[in-house]
Amino acid sequence: MFERVERMPDDPILGLMAAFRADPDPRKVDLGVGVYRDDQGATPVLEAVRRAEQAVLARQTSKTYVAPAGNAGFNQAMERAAFGEDHPVLSGGRLRTVQAPGGCGALRLGAELTRIAVADAVVQVSSPTWANHVPLLTGAGIKLERYPYYDAATGGVDFDSMRAALERLPLRSVVLLHASCHNPTGADLSPLQWRALIPVFARRGHIPFIDMAYQGLGTGVAEDAFGIRLFAAELPELLVAVSCSKNFGLYRERTGALHVLCASAAAADAVLSQLVRIARTIYSMPPDHGAAIVHEILGSDALRSTWLEEVGAMRTRIANLRRETVKQLRQACPQRDFSFIERQRGMFSFLGVSVDQVRALREQHHVYMTNDARINIAGLRNDNLEYFAQSVARVLTAAT
Ligand code: LMR
Repeated sequence: MFERVERMPDDPILGLMAAFRADPDPRKVDLGVGVYRDDQGATPVLEAVRRAEQAVLARQTSKTYVAPAGNAGFNQAMERAAFGEDHPVLSGGRLRTVQAPGGCGALRLGAELTRIAVADAVVQVSSPTWANHVPLLTGAGIKLERYPYYDAATGGVDFDSMRAALERLPLRSVVLLHASCHNPTGADLSPLQWRALIPVFARRGHIPFIDMAYQGLGTGVAEDAFGIRLFAAELPELLVAVSCSKNFGLYRERTGALHVLCASAAAADAVLSQLVRIARTIYSMPPDHGAAIVHEILGSDALRSTWLEEVGAMRTRIANLRRETVKQLRQACPQRDFSFIERQRGMFSFLGVSVDQVRALREQHHVYMTNDARINIAGLRNDNLEYFAQSVARVLTAAT
């Protein structure tokens, strides 16, 4: 049966993790997979998580099933975290939430739901978008199309082209947006730009599908959810896939949620029944541990403020690193402008070098990044930043 099974190429992001681990060179720099790192290069368990975990374990008396929709307390806490404590959708009866196995699980649930709702569903994604959006969404039978987004000349969003493209889409198109910390470019929509999209979505009846994987790592916990809160207040329908991997550091615990806002309570009930069925037919129920931890943190004033401090520290470190990276690159490669890195948000930026230069950085200098030259800023440290900038300068000079 397996003799004719084709070998798949390595995942573009996870394949790099393995290559990095296998590299014995002590100078190696991992700017590949999007995992937060501190200045020692570690991805520690957050203090809020450690304390919440102890409380959860001390109280737990059973490992029996929870439910296909997951932990109801977690789901409610996630709604308040995404939409804000006093948002009208919380009491409007049109919002439904299911716990999901990570942000990927939430995206897949949203994709499966979209395919059920719309025959021949097409989802519009930004150009570029996170590499894994493609197999995740197409694996659910969705066709993908791209709208213009990143402007390599400025390192920002090519907003005029984006808006014009969204205006031209067929009515009721599903449009995937990144809430903040755009992966892979770090170029985010400003509050003004989010606002300017409302009339386009309203006029065309487009349905926003927002991916929020980095809440708190960009500008702030509330600021990073600005677009979600605005769209939920102004538009009848919305999907939001949330990940707790980065902002709670719960990567391997696979913790996330899918929120779906519908035009009526009856539609929301039908949607929930579909989501529960989709979950049941793929993985039955989501893993409990990470969600129990997040529920504990968000439900306790003390743990919540510890968590907010810890997310704030991650955000500040990334912002400082962005500034420092631009400084070092300016010294090492004065002929090139990398100042856009400082204007971007979150863990990622495009370095703007060629695939051959990415390969040279990996093979000659042991600096790892994805082939599109996406760098994870959090992989830089005080003690490797200069080496990184000099390595970039070397490959740039070699090419000229
Ligand atoms: C990334 O983009 O590197 C992260 O979101 C990790 C992943 O699963 O790809």
